[in-house]
Amino acid sequence: MDSVIEDIRVRKILDSRGNPTLEVDVITWNGFGRAAAPSGASTGSREVVAFPKGGVDGIIEEVEDIISAELIGMDAEDLQEIDLVLKEIDGTENLSAIGGNTTVAVSMAVAKAAAASYNLPLYRFLGGNMPSQIPFPLGNMINGGAHAGKNAPDIQEFLVLPVGASNITEAVFTNVAVHRRIREKIAEKDSLFTGGKGDEGGWAPNLTNQEALEIQATSCEEVSQETGVLVKPCLDMAASEFWDADQEKYIYAKEGVHRDTGEQVDYVSEIIDTYGMFFVEDPIREGDFQGFADLTQKSGKKCIICGDDLFVTNADILSEGIQKGAGNAIIIKPNQIGTLSDTYETVNLARTNKYVPVVSHRSGETPDETIAHLAVAWSSPIIKTGAVGGERIAKLNELIRIEEEMSNPQMADLSDRGI
Ligand code: PGA
Ligand code: ZN
Repeated sequence: MDSVIEDIRVRKILDSRGNPTLEVDVITWNGFGRAAAPSGASTGSREVVAFPKGGVDGIIEEVEDIISAELIGMDAEDLQEIDLVLKEIDGTENLSAIGGNTTVAVSMAVAKAAAASYNLPLYRFLGGNMPSQIPFPLGNMINGGAHAGKNAPDIQEFLVLPVGASNITEAVFTNVAVHRRIREKIAEKDSLFTGGKGDEGGWAPNLTNQEALEIQATSCEEVSQETGVLVKPCLDMAASEFWDADQEKYIYAKEGVHRDTGEQVDYVSEIIDTYGMFFVEDPIREGDFQGFADLTQKSGKKCIICGDDLFVTNADILSEGIQKGAGNAIIIKPNQIGTLSDTYETVNLARTNKYVPVVSHRSGETPDETIAHLAVAWSSPIIKTGAVGGERIAKLNELIRIEEEMSNPQMADLSDRGI
């Protein structure tokens, strides 16, 4: 009774890039939930469709009525059933009729409304009383590729993980200390640096990959020494973005270097060794399970090798990767698959097969804080959600509140990578 859905509101709002996205309110007899969909710039080709042709404007007039007609009167607690109804309403394999961003915003708002109906925070409603682990925040430091201007590095994201932090506050402030140090070092190298940032709040400098790697590594070392909190460098290469299918080469435009798949595997494994990378995401283009498997074979014991565009939070595609030994971690983005139930299925499959689930933001975000709760509820040992910027800190500050609320909080155990 408490969680029966009484009303649903859908509106168009701004995301962090100034693009339109959807926000959904779900009102139950005794609760209220609000959620908004994020959006990607370097999307995987097998993600569900974010919005049908015409974007948000194409559906905004009618989607509220269509969804309300089916969901009002249902119990928000029956999340799996509601997710099935959402997929039925859409009726397509890839959610291209009403859009995966529509279904995911409704799915998350329903879960939040159900939690609120019982006066529970979302992480407790989804995860029960047992979760007490706080994920380590993977912070974005330098942006390149599709997230920055054309003189920035080819590698999309230079990240850091404060693996030595003993609580979330220490972790997020350590990330910010590295972020500041990196700015100083970029300015030392480039007197024309304006302090400009990319989509996820990392600096967008006129640097080569090599220069950015050096600055990232020395900043991690210095801040580790000064604070006593060990910080490790990490990358998201988003390699599909600079793979040329005709030439069958990875094109590093900034350096004028081309690498075939074998050379790419060697190059990445060399970077992992030289800089002590803790985590590398999408080092190989999507679809190339063999390339991923080769790199995992070579470097997977030393480094987390994570698939984002490769797996697109899809359990079937992850199964294929597991069989082929491609990677040992998976990025979890609910809007890549369209519902919370399907996202959870993928998280479970990952965990059962010792793949690290890394709950993640997208480059286009809103201050929606839902993923902080998902990471805690599902015991994701790492959360990827930036380091600075209003839409990024919304998640980080929510983790600080969650930690404060727990009776016996602990940082996740990364000794066996948290699995
Ligand atoms: P996207 O990028 O949100 O633009 O897809 C983020 C990522 O690749 O991890
Ligand atoms: Zn990625």
